[in-house]
Amino acid sequence: MANLNLSGIELFDAGERASRDEITALQTERMKWSLRHTYDNVAHYRAKCVAKGVHPDDFRQLSDIAKFPFTVKTDLRDTYPFGMFAVPREQVLRIHGSSGTTGKPIVVGYTRDDLDMWADMMARSIRAAGGRPGMMVHNAYGYGLFTGGLGAHAGAERLGCTVVPVSGGMTERQVQLITDFKPDIIMVTPSYMMALLDGFHAAGLDARQCSLRFGIFGAEPWTNAMRREIESAFTLDATDIYGLSEVMGPGVAQECVETKDGLHIWEDHFYPEIINPETGEVLPDGEMGELVFTSLSKQAFPIIRYRTRDLTRLLPGSARPGMRRMEKITGRSDDMIILRGVNLFPTQVEELLLATDWSAGHFQLELTRPHRMDEMTVHAEARPEEFASLNVEEAAHHLVHRIKATIGVSSHVVIHPPGGVERSLGKAKRVVDRRPKEI
Ligand code: DLL
Repeated sequence: MANLNLSGIELFDAGERASRDEITALQTERMKWSLRHTYDNVAHYRAKCVAKGVHPDDFRQLSDIAKFPFTVKTDLRDTYPFGMFAVPREQVLRIHGSSGTTGKPIVVGYTRDDLDMWADMMARSIRAAGGRPGMMVHNAYGYGLFTGGLGAHAGAERLGCTVVPVSGGMTERQVQLITDFKPDIIMVTPSYMMALLDGFHAAGLDARQCSLRFGIFGAEPWTNAMRREIESAFTLDATDIYGLSEVMGPGVAQECVETKDGLHIWEDHFYPEIINPETGEVLPDGEMGELVFTSLSKQAFPIIRYRTRDLTRLLPGSARPGMRRMEKITGRSDDMIILRGVNLFPTQVEELLLATDWSAGHFQLELTRPHRMDEMTVHAEARPEEFASLNVEEAAHHLVHRIKATIGVSSHVVIHPPGGVERSLGKAKRVVDRRPKEI
């Protein structure tokens, strides 16, 4: 779809041009620094090392990282708000946070150098997605404590783009601005992109005619089926961007537009591991497990072996041979639904829905326990142009069968008219759990 001139290797920065051996050598050096910096300046992590009997001097090669303790979400909650900072608060130029679903937010901070590195990584990501200096970026990631808006903003400016800082919400106005300003790139969650598609329809506009050429979608799991849906609805190239506040924000990993084969992890700044979530054992590349990250250059909020709860596997580099890829994320271990003994992720239902000819891509999974047994109802919305002529019962019945045949669980399916399923302004809420709480 994209008519890009990708011949010029000069487009790549030094990190992207590095060989695997050069990246490994750089990671080893930076890891030594990061372990020492964290140990010396973060009392909480130092205490964990002491309890485990390890010291930064025990690190000589990358595999030695397995000796060091993990950092988990509760470490961040226990030290709220600034206990994990490794520099005096006066050197922290920016605070971000993620609200999570319960309790106190996670607070993270950035020095001037950290903000610089983040902008560089985001600029690299936008470029990998097809962006070039001079293009216009419609940034609909939320601005505020969430890292999406400001992170994408700084990266787009660093690359030399014109940024339209729209943030999330006010769909009608977003459609208007896209139509009037004619941006080349959109940055937004994939679920809100589908809400924007509704907005185009509601305004009587054909989204395929809009100016957008590249979409950079992330902050939540989404499937290749959703990619095809978005690409054909808007005639653009859609790539996946990954990141999390604890590690930096968006721009930890990004898919390259020329291959669309998973996300290259920017390994010159972030060291990935895949572990068995039950035992904590490090798994070889290619095996599926929980993604763990160590920051290699961050000053204000260094993080060692952070357990993300995201499930994926590591693959060799392709479009950037020196850096490994991670497969598109299936889901988070805490999003996994266990329904009568069968494990399933919302993305599996998304794939089946988008294989039908009627689904608009908006859906929620409702969990209930009417008679001691858990039940799942898929609430799915039909496309406006299909709904009137759709035999709702037959279509629902067919989907129940597909879910049983491919995922292995019995479910109920309710097909809603256009607008019948809740929209999110940012991350979609795919699971609504109405089961009584265990006491
Ligand atoms: O969501 C940062 C971000 C903003 C990434 C904009 C991409 C674009 P948090 O709010 O801290 O940060 O949430 C991080 O979101 O652990 C994943 O579970 C999920 N996530 C982020 N990107 C993806 C993705 C931002 N591309 C959490 N695919 C992570 C699947 C994603 N899940």
